[in-house]
Amino acid sequence: MTTVTAPLVDIQTCPQDVPSVPPWFAELILLSHHLTQRGVLDAIAQQVRLGRGRAGIYDVIDFVAILLGYALSSEPTLDAFFERLRPFAGPFMALFGRDQVPHRSTLSRFLADVDGGTKIVVAGIVLTTACRPAAGALLDFWHTDDNGDYDNEGYRLRGHLFADATGAYRLETIVPAVYPGRTRHIHVKVQAEGGPVLTTQLYFPGEAENERDDLFHAELVMNVRNVADGKAATFNFVVAA
Ligand SMILES: [Fe+2]
Repeated sequence: MTTVTAPLVDIQTCPQDVPSVPPWFAELILLSHHLTQRGVLDAIAQQVRLGRGRAGIYDVIDFVAILLGYALSSEPTLDAFFERLRPFAGPFMALFGRDQVPHRSTLSRFLADVDGGTKIVVAGIVLTTACRPAAGALLDFWHTDDNGDYDNEGYRLRGHLFADATGAYRLETIVPAVYPGRTRHIHVKVQAEGGPVLTTQLYFPGEAENERDDLFHAELVMNVRNVADGKAATFNFVVAA
């Protein structure tokens, strides 16, 4: 860093790139001021006790701040919004009188709560046909909500994630409801880095409709067990790399 000092002005130059302020930030400042003046933020903050326990260390107002920011931002996905927000997380949360951005996975759990339905964590490993972990494999999931409806206009209950270096993945969502003509299922595309895309569906054990659904395959049934706050499912994928 170079510092030039003049009697009235300090000029500092820094070799690192400084990320530009997102264009939607000014609009957010106006909105947060408006909501503060109208007492809306205080009213939401009163819900804190309801949110605790389910939301962990965060309060409902933290999630509301994120969702307001996302709605205003026009960023294509929540992930894109989080990425854009990262350098400005402190000032952003300060607009709402808060200091910590909720973790991405905590937000997923919160949204599952908002959606209603039974929580489910689907986890497992993506392996290559050579039985090696497909590190960084892409998994793209979509399924119906608690009423059996797909979000065909936005991205609710649709999203992708990446397996970690050991090929492990973890999806936190809700159990999809059945819709006419199909048994209960979760759609998924899986792709090892540089490999072809596998498009398939995951099924639930013990569903009455499994036998009547022509698309159903027994080898695609997840292991599902009941846990304290919903269900935990496991499924391992094997894909070409
Ligand atoms: Fe479907």
